[in-house]
Amino acid sequence: MKSNTELIHQWMEETIQKDWVCVDMTCGKGRDTLEMAKLAHHVTSIDIQEAAIEQAKALSSQYDNITFIQDDHINISNYVKDFIHLAIFNLGYLPDGNKKIQTTADSTLMALSKIYPRIRKNGYLVVTCYVGHKGGKEEHETVKRWIDHYKNFETTIIDSGKRNAPITYICKKTSFDSR
Ligand SMILES: C[S@@+](CC[C@H](N)C(=O)[O-])C[C@H]1O[C@@H](n2cnc3c(N)ncnc32)[C@H](O)[C@@H]1O
Repeated sequence: MKSNTELIHQWMEETIQKDWVCVDMTCGKGRDTLEMAKLAHHVTSIDIQEAAIEQAKALSSQYDNITFIQDDHINISNYVKDFIHLAIFNLGYLPDGNKKIQTTADSTLMALSKIYPRIRKNGYLVVTCYVGHKGGKEEHETVKRWIDHYKNFETTIIDSGKRNAPITYICKKTSFDSR
């Protein structure tokens, strides 16, 4: 069975167009950033940790269409001023990294609210939640409630139903009006 990451990368290949502008809200090791850089016009990739940004830069060194930013993603509107086609969140902590540095329900909610207005009509928001670690279930509930609130999202859910498996929401923003 394919992992959520593999399924998202397959979805990216089928969906992302050459002129797309994408934002990776949780750069991490940069696997999602690299996939988007192969397909899109430009990727902005943000992470709060230097270790993540360094690994991601090394992974995608042949690509010159990525802007890496080391900052809290709640500050994303300082860097992304124009409309974008896709924003992706892969929540939690850096694999093999410092598990104390992880996304939280509060900061994720704030970051979602900051990037939402930048997503163009028919653009996408992709969020993967991990429920197995401390705070993960609460974060997932918060993300789910936030997504459910937006009636203009057409949402596809990747959920194997297995205990503690990651859950991914692929949300298409069908209009600017959320009612
Ligand atoms: C699961 S990893 C992302 C994996 C990544 N998408 C990949 O392809 O390798 C989650 C990342 O979120 C980052 N992070 C946690 N809190 C953050 C915050 N407030 N702002 C920005 N990044 C944050 C962590 O440093 C970690 O690298």
